[in-house]
Amino acid sequence: MKVWRTLGDWRAARGGLAGRSIGFVPTMGALHAGHRTLLARASAENDCVVLSIFVNPTQFNDPADLAKYPRTLEADLALAADLADHVIVPEAAELYPDNFNYRVTEDSLSRRLEGAHRPGHFDGVLTVVLKLLNLVQPTRAYFGEKDWQQLRLVEGMVRALLLPVEIVACPTERESDGLALSSRNRRLSPVARAQAGQFPRILRSAATAAAAMTELSQSGFEVDYVADEPGVRLGAIRTENVRLIDNVRL
Ligand code: PAF
Repeated sequence: MKVWRTLGDWRAARGGLAGRSIGFVPTMGALHAGHRTLLARASAENDCVVLSIFVNPTQFNDPADLAKYPRTLEADLALAADLADHVIVPEAAELYPDNFNYRVTEDSLSRRLEGAHRPGHFDGVLTVVLKLLNLVQPTRAYFGEKDWQQLRLVEGMVRALLLPVEIVACPTERESDGLALSSRNRRLSPVARAQAGQFPRILRSAATAAAAMTELSQSGFEVDYVADEPGVRLGAIRTENVRLIDNVRL
């Protein structure tokens, strides 16, 4: 596994991969078993696997959330070592030479649900994903279904901007109590962690989105939203100031 910290070095390495299929897994680090599943699938379906680790500042609407985001590079590299061939760990100054004056904006889905609660979040996500796709030029890029809205918006951007990449949606990995794996879970206290398994259970069992909101509030969560979209129920809650999102099929 080779680790590239400058875009110039990565571009030179990318030149040597011509003709090989590339599976790309973009991440913000704090890797867990869910990321390993994405890497394993990328490895099974491509000649070569590229992982990116970059805590993208432009997708954090709350500076405190950015500051608290776990940064665990050495552990991440160890976790990916047997699955990734190349890891790019870019600097913000290199990825944003324009200081984010140029950005990708989507005007419909990105304004609702997560977008309504985190203004500008998806501009940051789409912009960094476009930059990373341009740098990696993968055959396939792998995204988890836990971030349902992100996945749909990336698929939409690929269609809208005619990008030559296949987006592969991967099912959400869950703990034994149903909690979706997330880098944020490690910020939960043991008490909050024990309670958090209720979140997907209530999303799944409530008869309506409104009933799920009521039941989640009664269980002690602060509820940002629960909403039904065709075939899927989405929710975002806070517990001990840690924000968790999830979705279940209807
Ligand atoms: O899902 C994530 O980890 C991030 O939103 C992504 C896609 C790596 C962009 O920063």
